[in-house]
Amino acid sequence: MTRNRPALLLAVLASLLLAPAAWAYPGGTPGFQTDAAPYCAGCHSSTSAQDLAGATGDRATKELAENKHLALIRAGEGGYAKLSAPDRETLVQHVQALDAATTVKLSALPKAKPGEEVTVKVELTGGAGPVVGVALVDMPHRWQARPIPGSGWQVVGTPRILGQDFQEQMEWIERRPEAAGRNLAFVNVTGILSDAAKGEWGRADVVWTLRAPDEPGTYSLVAAYWYGTEKASPLGVIEDPIRGKMLRGGYAGASGRVKFSPVLTVQVQ
Ligand code: HEC
Repeated sequence: MTRNRPALLLAVLASLLLAPAAWAYPGGTPGFQTDAAPYCAGCHSSTSAQDLAGATGDRATKELAENKHLALIRAGEGGYAKLSAPDRETLVQHVQALDAATTVKLSALPKAKPGEEVTVKVELTGGAGPVVGVALVDMPHRWQARPIPGSGWQVVGTPRILGQDFQEQMEWIERRPEAAGRNLAFVNVTGILSDAAKGEWGRADVVWTLRAPDEPGTYSLVAAYWYGTEKASPLGVIEDPIRGKMLRGGYAGASGRVKFSPVLTVQVQ
C-alpha cells in the first residue's frame, strides 16, 4: 500500500489539475480581477528563448512551444494519442499558423514629463479565443516581469477594452467593485475567435492611460500577451457530451502561450 502512495497522490493531483474547475485557466481568468504577471502561467509555452534569459541549463529552450507543445503532438503523447499521424500533423500546422498570426504591438510616445498622463495602446491579433489576456509589464521576461505600477508608472482609470467586434467591453472588469479602483494593468478580452482551418484570426485593442513616473529617467514598457492555441483547431478540442469542449492537450497542457511585445523605451524628463 505504502508503495502506491506516490502514485495515488499523483492521480489525485492530476485529477485536480485536469478537472475543468470554474476558475480554470483555459478560458482566461474570469474570476481574478487583479494585476497578473507572466510567471503565473507555468503551463504555457514560450515564443522566444529570450523570454527566460538566465534560466539554468536548457530550461529556456525546453519552454519553447516547439519543444514543450508541438513535440508532444508529433509524438502522439497523452490526449494526442487518439489522433492519427496525419491529423496530428494537421493540428501542428493549425497551431503553427495561429502562432504566426498572433501578434502584440504596443505604442506610446517616446517622451513624457514626470507625472504626465500618457496614452498606451496595445493591439492584439490572433489567440485561439474565446478569451485572451494582456498586461503592461516592465520587461519581456516570464519570471521577472512585474506589473507596470511596480516600476513607477500608475494606471489612471479603467483601461478601455475593445473586443473583436470593436465594441467596448466592461463585463470582465466590472466584476471588480468600482470603489476598489478598476485601474488594473491586466485585463481579459472576451469574444475572441480564431479559426486556423479557415485562416481567420481574432483581434482586439486595449487602451491604457498611464501617469509617468515622478523620477526622471529611462523607462521600459512592454505588453505581455497570454493566449491559447488549440481551441483554434477542430482537432484541438474534444466534444464531451457533458462537459462540452475539452482541450486535446488537457487543462495542464502546454498549448497556452506567453508572448511579449517589442520593448518601448520612454524618456521621462
Ligand atoms: C494548469 C496550467 C495553466 C496555468 C498554471 C495557467 N494556464 Fe493559462 N492556459 C492553460 C492552457 C492549457 C491554455 C490553452 C488553451 C488553448 O490552447 O486553447 C491556457 C490559456 C490561457 C489564456 C487564453 C484563454 C483560452 O481559453 O485560450 C489566458 C488568458 C490564460 N491562459 C491566462 C493565464 C494566466 C493569467 C495565468 C496565471 C494566473 C495562467 N493562464 C496560468 C493552462 C494554464
